[in-house]
Amino acid sequence: MTRLVAGNWKMNGCLAANRRLLDELVVEAGVEMAVCVPFPYLAQLQERPAGLVLGAQDVSEFEAGAYTGEVSAAMLAEFGCRYVIVGHSERRALFAEDDLLVGRKAHAALAAGLTPIVCVGETLVERDEGRAMAVIGRQLGAVLEVLGRVAMARVVLAYEPVWAIGSGRSATVAQVEDVHAGIRGWLREQGVAADAVRILYGGSVKPENAAGLFALADVDGGLIGGASLVAADFMAICRAEAGGV
Ligand code: 13P
Repeated sequence: MTRLVAGNWKMNGCLAANRRLLDELVVEAGVEMAVCVPFPYLAQLQERPAGLVLGAQDVSEFEAGAYTGEVSAAMLAEFGCRYVIVGHSERRALFAEDDLLVGRKAHAALAAGLTPIVCVGETLVERDEGRAMAVIGRQLGAVLEVLGRVAMARVVLAYEPVWAIGSGRSATVAQVEDVHAGIRGWLREQGVAADAVRILYGGSVKPENAAGLFALADVDGGLIGGASLVAADFMAICRAEAGGV
């Protein structure tokens, strides 16, 4: 399966800064390289380096209608998005998104032909209490409940430990290996075609630690926050995923 490195710009950028970043980006061969940008910039990203794949950071669970402020999956598809992030921990924590809503958003994305990047991950308290895998199982279980086994195999998953996001403190190679194997095993147990599912790691991925994380058997790519805003860093991370370093 093609490995995926997706940049999550979060609520950053402006027309001029985006243009500078795009001008510097060179798409690496051997890896799918995507950027998930704020909604207003989808129009600007219609012109982008050849091969750079487009994504968004959220999507409505609804198809169309009186839902002020929402953006539908069909709208994202119309702007050429292939991916949309759903259930990022920032949305779960700051915008009260619950597990089932994340499942419904993933469903809406798939129905419009997009691939949802479904984020899961534990807080530091949950990890310290030994509940990391239980929490992730609960988050995944809700998505499976909405999607069913067949559609579940069509999503991309991203393991993003909440405590590693934007903290400069990536999970260790052993922790990532453990959770990714746990997620793959969980999918298998539920009867999902686990080997078809790409499982990305996200949380303080930098050029310095990318190769070590990406070398792990069950890591199929990365979801990159801060470092995706710096062209040289994002390209170095993509090179590490492509096996070059
Ligand atoms: P950082 O790479 O800035 O830690 O962010 C990770 C993330 O949240 C990507 O979705």
